[in-house]
Amino acid sequence: MLASILPQGVMAVECFTDPPGTVLFPEEEAHIERAVDKRRREFTTVRRCARIALSRLGHPPAPLLPGLRGAPGWPEGVVGSMTHCAGYRAAAVASAAKVRTIGIDAEPAEPLPPGGVLHSVTSEIERARLAEYAASHPEVAWDRLLFSAKEAVYKAWFPLTRRWLGFEEADVAFDPDEGTFTARLLVADRPVDGFTGRWAVAEGIAVTAIATTVDHVRP
Ligand SMILES: CC(C)(COP(=O)(O)OP(=O)(O)OC[C@H]1O[C@@H](n2cnc3c(N)ncnc32)[C@H](O)[C@@H]1OP(=O)(O)O)[C@@H](O)C(=O)NCCC(=O)NCCS
Repeated sequence: MLASILPQGVMAVECFTDPPGTVLFPEEEAHIERAVDKRRREFTTVRRCARIALSRLGHPPAPLLPGLRGAPGWPEGVVGSMTHCAGYRAAAVASAAKVRTIGIDAEPAEPLPPGGVLHSVTSEIERARLAEYAASHPEVAWDRLLFSAKEAVYKAWFPLTRRWLGFEEADVAFDPDEGTFTARLLVADRPVDGFTGRWAVAEGIAVTAIATTVDHVRP
């Protein structure tokens, strides 16, 4: 599912279960030694995905440790992103010579829970668009997809800037027929004006993905 929404040259590996026998590096083990089982399983399986993806780029297995604000540390010359949610784990990597940043995110393909989440992650304009999408394509949980796209935006933004980006600092719009989205950044100091990405829903999972080539980023 993920590979179909990422450009050529980006290696994407996904997993719908937690295969037994996946071994972590000692540094990774140390990082999650006090984690609950759910966190241990997602952390381990997504690293399995990442190592398979890295091997397709010709990189040997290496520890993948969370760094500044949780952003994963990739081997020299690699950009990438990881995501996990119930029943799904995925990683995408590419050569930094071709791709400047990647952001992927997965969510259960269900509406956001009631209770104000939607209002805290969307603008009035975005909510109006969601209503239009829902009218023409009622089968998609558009609010959840928008939340996912914004998380993918943050994961693509952070390696470029090492800065926080709030939900109100990007305006996200979908093309419901083309399976694409655009995110316009609403911050003044920015290396890109925005991101374009693709989305897909299958097997009860909504995924969003951004891969920005080097020529799209201001130095
Ligand atoms: C960091 C964040 C995006 C992670 O998303 P999530 O849906 O909670 O979790 P996911 O399972 O999809 O992704 C987790 C993975 O994201 C990656 N990640 C975490 N922090 C990151 C960061 N600062 N930059 C890039 N990737 C990051 C890690 O690989 C992590 O997995 P790991 O801990 O096993 O290594 C989210 O928790 C968050 O802080 N969001 C607020 C910021 C935001 O989204 N702003 C919207 C801007 S429009």
